[in-house]
Amino acid sequence: MSEVRLLLLHLTIMVLQVPLCHGACVEVDSDTEAVAKGGFKMGCISCKKRGEVPATATVDWFFKAVDEKEYTHIYSYYSYEDKDGEIMDDRFYERLAWNGSKRTDDLQDGSLYILNVTFNDTGTYRCLFNRILNFGTYEHHTNATKVIKLRVVPERTRSVASIFSEVMMYVTVIGLQFWLLVEMIYCYKKISAAGEEALKESAAEYLAIASESKDNCAGVQVAE
Ligand SMILES: *[C@@H]1O[C@H](CO)[C@@H](O)[C@H](O)[C@H]1NC(C)=O
Ligand SMILES: *[C@@H]1O[C@H](CO)[C@@H](O)[C@H](O)[C@H]1NC(C)=O
Ligand SMILES: *[C@@H]1O[C@H](CO)[C@@H](O)[C@H](O)[C@H]1NC(C)=O
Ligand SMILES: *[C@@H]1O[C@H](CO)[C@@H](O)[C@H](O)[C@H]1NC(C)=O
Repeated sequence: MSEVRLLLLHLTIMVLQVPLCHGACVEVDSDTEAVAKGGFKMGCISCKKRGEVPATATVDWFFKAVDEKEYTHIYSYYSYEDKDGEIMDDRFYERLAWNGSKRTDDLQDGSLYILNVTFNDTGTYRCLFNRILNFGTYEHHTNATKVIKLRVVPERTRSVASIFSEVMMYVTVIGLQFWLLVEMIYCYKKISAAGEEALKESAAEYLAIASESKDNCAGVQVAE
C-alpha cells in the first residue's frame, strides 16, 4: 500500500509544480549585468492599473554614459505604429531591437534589446512609459519611469571545474527524472496487480491526502 501512496504523492507534487501562470502583468526588475560582445535585454514593464480601459502608449529610452551628466534620447516606440521602434542615437546604430509587447495598442512591456554590447554601453538607462487612457469623453495621461544601471563585464572564460559541475548537474537532473519514471512504472504495475478493490481503497486515500495537502500546501505526507 505504501507504494500506492508514494506514487500518488509524486503525482500530487507534479501537479503542484505546474506554474501558476495566467499571463498576468508582473513588474519584474531588469537584470543589470551585460556581457561584452553579447546581447542584453533591458527589461521595462509597466502594468496598466485599470485593465478595462483602452489605452495607447509610447515608450522612450534614454541613456547616460558614466562620464555624462545628461540623458540622451536613444529610442522611441509607438504602440499604434505597426513597426519596430526608432533608434535616435548613432552610438546604438543598428544595435537596438524592440523586445516589448508587439502588435498591441495596449503595451505593458517596453523592454529593449542591445546587440553587440560594448564597454561604452556602461551607464544609466531610463525607460519612460507615456500612456494615454481613453475614457471616451476624456483622456488621461500617465507616465511611468524605470531606471537601469547597466554594468558591462568581460566575456566569461569558464574554468574546467565550472563546466564539470554544470555537466554533473545535468546528469543528476536527468538521472532523477529517469529514476522517477522507473519508479512510476513499477508502482503502476503493482497497482494493476493489486486489483480493483485496492484501487478503490487507494482512491479514497488519495482524496484524503489531497484534502490534507490542500490545507497545508507545503506539507508533505510521508507514507509509513
Ligand atoms: C554584431 O556582431 C556580429 C558578429 O560579430 C556582426 O556580424 C555584426 O555586424 C555586428 N553588428 C553591429 C551592428 O555591430
Ligand atoms: C529580443 O530581440 C533580439 C534581437 O532581435 C532577439 O534575438 C530576441 O529573441 C528577442 N527576445 C524576445 C524575448 O523577444
Ligand atoms: C568607445 O568610446 C571611445 C571614446 O569615445 C571610442 O574611441 C571607442 O571607439 C568606443 N568603442 C566602441 C566599441 O564603440
Ligand atoms: C509624460 O511624459 C511626456 C514626455 O516626456 C510629457 O510630455 C508629459 O507631460 C508627461 N506627463 C505627465 C502626466 O507627467
